[in-house]
Amino acid sequence: MNYLTNDKLVIVGAGGMIGSNMVQSVLTLGLTPNVCLYDIYEPGVHGVYDEICQCAFEGANLCYTTDPEKAFTDAKYIISSGGAPRKDGMTREDLLKGNCQIAADFGDNIKKYCPNVEHVVVIFNPADVTALTTLIHSGLKPNQLTSLAALDSTRLQQALADEFGVQQDKVVGAHTYGGHGEQMAVFASKVSIDGKPLSEMGLSEEKWAAIKLRTTQGGSNIIKLRGRSSFQSPAYCAVKMIQAAMGGDKFTLPAGCYVNNEKFKNVMMAMPTTIDKTGVHFAEPTGTPEELAALEASYEHLCKMREEIIELGIVPAVDQWKEMNPNL
Ligand SMILES: NC(=O)c1ccc[n+]([C@@H]2O[C@H](COP(=O)([O-])OP(=O)(O)OC[C@H]3O[C@@H](n4cnc5c(N)ncnc54)[C@H](O)[C@@H]3O)[C@@H](O)[C@H]2O)c1
Repeated sequence: MNYLTNDKLVIVGAGGMIGSNMVQSVLTLGLTPNVCLYDIYEPGVHGVYDEICQCAFEGANLCYTTDPEKAFTDAKYIISSGGAPRKDGMTREDLLKGNCQIAADFGDNIKKYCPNVEHVVVIFNPADVTALTTLIHSGLKPNQLTSLAALDSTRLQQALADEFGVQQDKVVGAHTYGGHGEQMAVFASKVSIDGKPLSEMGLSEEKWAAIKLRTTQGGSNIIKLRGRSSFQSPAYCAVKMIQAAMGGDKFTLPAGCYVNNEKFKNVMMAMPTTIDKTGVHFAEPTGTPEELAALEASYEHLCKMREEIIELGIVPAVDQWKEMNPNL
């Protein structure tokens, strides 16, 4: 089997649903044979390790551990889903305090054991804020760390494909930006359906409102249908993100990235992005005044969550971030 790289990849939360699916996808897609499975729950990660060994992937060189030093030392790529998932009735924001504390420790471990890591993808929710916490604590450059936001866009794409009865990949440009919470900004103006602009498809206001709702509630809907939070789609999309950072196909669905420009200050949020071997690059979203207003509202919500983690003492006040991470 030909692998894209031999660099060490660490899957954090590997004993869990997303983590275990990521290990499988990494080896199925041939990213790297050198995968370390890390979790705080030994039986879980041990069991995943045994199962993956029993797949007998050619060339695989796996290890598992509950020791952060063993896991992170020499890591070149990391994906983390290591945090609590939400249950029915919970929003992603309900996870803020506990998971952001985990993110702070995660960032500290990166700084301590693998400051030369190339790229990190953060999945655990609320992903924009856990990723921001990780970035501040890790000392990494902003282009080296992304959060998983793409599912909001793939949910929008699926809803539009269902509405018009077309194959899903005939829906192009279906993107959401801003936060990954339910206050995400859903953009319609760049969407085309089988080559035709959405604006010419005769979609009623009511139907568009229902599609938007289906998109923003996409994660809750999976919890209702399956009795647990989604795991196959986050696992696959996050692995595609790290594949791009390793030099594989570019990842062009929106990713959460650090933004600090004229309009948006000191947040991680989904933007029009490309991930490649040099990290994440973003452009300014363009859209209708309503879409841009929704993005602004989503940004304001992210600022509130940022203030919460500052108040909780998980990250310092913004003007002191540079002391913890000179790259910010
Ligand atoms: N960004 C997204 O699009 C998206 C989508 C779905 C789920 N999620 C989030 O991903 C996270 C994981 O979901 P899951 O379904 O895999 O949950 P899970 O409970 O099945 O797995 C989480 C794993 O993380 C481990 N863990 C907990 N704290 C840890 C720590 N400090 N260090 C290392 N490992 C730790 C647990 O032991 C467990 O094995 C949740 O926060 C969930 O909300 C994000």
